[in-house]
Amino acid sequence: MKIQRFSRVGFIMAAAGSAVGLGNIWKFPYMTGEYGGGAFVLVYLFTIAFIGFSVMVAEMLIGALGRKDTVGSFETLAPPNKKYWKYAGLIGFNGIIIMTFYSVVIGWIFYYLIILMFGLPSTTEDAKTIFDTLVTQSPGVAIFYHTIAVIIVGYIVHKGIKSGIEKINLILMPALMLILFGLLLYAFSLDGFTKAWSFMFEPKWDKLNSEAIVRAVGHSFFTLSLGMGAIMTYAASLPKDANITKTAFIVTFMDTFIALIAGLVIFSFLFQFGASPSQGPGLVFISLPTILDNFGSLGIIFALLFFLSLAFAGITSAISLVEPVVQYLIDRFDFSRTKAVAFISSIYWLVGIAALLSYTKGWGDLFSIAGKPIFDILEYTTDSILLPLGGLLIAIFIGYEIHQDRVKAELEPEMGEKVYKVWRFSIRYIAPISLLFMMLNLMGIIKI
Ligand code: PFF
Repeated sequence: MKIQRFSRVGFIMAAAGSAVGLGNIWKFPYMTGEYGGGAFVLVYLFTIAFIGFSVMVAEMLIGALGRKDTVGSFETLAPPNKKYWKYAGLIGFNGIIIMTFYSVVIGWIFYYLIILMFGLPSTTEDAKTIFDTLVTQSPGVAIFYHTIAVIIVGYIVHKGIKSGIEKINLILMPALMLILFGLLLYAFSLDGFTKAWSFMFEPKWDKLNSEAIVRAVGHSFFTLSLGMGAIMTYAASLPKDANITKTAFIVTFMDTFIALIAGLVIFSFLFQFGASPSQGPGLVFISLPTILDNFGSLGIIFALLFFLSLAFAGITSAISLVEPVVQYLIDRFDFSRTKAVAFISSIYWLVGIAALLSYTKGWGDLFSIAGKPIFDILEYTTDSILLPLGGLLIAIFIGYEIHQDRVKAELEPEMGEKVYKVWRFSIRYIAPISLLFMMLNLMGIIKI
């Protein structure tokens, strides 16, 4: 076994680094805006508490007991006559599919970090032009920044668990939190803050439709990095006597807290100048820079800090998306770490270019399937199919297949009898049923 061990704080920061990502700072605010605020946030919080947290414990447990790459851990823990469960470990590959578009978005963020230094767009039209030009008309620029993202992520992962992943998370995570807290402190002083608060925490139930519910459940999995083997792979390097329940709780809490802070910061700025919250994925790339222009040169500093926190969040998540397959190649095929990183990075770099070209005017048709850009297909496949499927497999494996005494021996002392019972009910019934439901709904097989 070639697995190194994290320190206790190192693990918490690495797992939180995986969870806190573009999903928290980019996706959560724009989804909240699109689905009308409070009620969406409430469903999201509810799912995190009752499903996300249970699956996080389950995924960590598989890693901590299996102590191998994802395939190896499933294989080790499966009952002797059911070794086919090892194939469930292939969920580790989902991360690479996510990376194809995740690294493109990190590339956009790098580009923004450079251009925003020279000034902010003063009208929404200008901001739209900047974003559209990057995404639809400048494949060379987008490929350049995507490549930089792939190289940075690859470099960190190639340094390994201790001197790469742990080290970078111990630096970037506190830095990210510091930036967001600082921005929140400033947001407090704005009139927009009260509006942001009521937008996010006063539910308007009439805005909540079935689509919003399904998206909230899906997002709670994405944001906690579940169903991809990322948390499982990190947990294989947990320090020996770590308390899984407590660790999962801290990570879940940090992830949720940071998403809420990011939302409050963005909406405070937007509402301060009367902008609308429902602008979709362009919220952070188009509306925010324009609004910040109202603050003069302070606005540039805010924008740079904000995009820096976004870049940090993206990088720490990206390394956790790449590590599972790297560990798999090292364990199963005796690859050296460097070779594994180079191999897997080249693949997702190439597919990422196809994804990125699918948004451009010149190449869009060529890189679309049935009129849908490859970028959207990759995102849809992971969000709606692979991620809930991964969660489902984890819940069934821990809830039904693995020796139940083993699970109990591990978790009951940590949770106490009552909480353990609730957790078990959640992992056996609530999680699988909701995940199945969500998957069928997103795939259009059933409609609620
Ligand atoms: N949790 C990350 C985010 O919110 O952006 C994304 C992610 C990372 C998903 C790692 C899945 C994963 F395994």
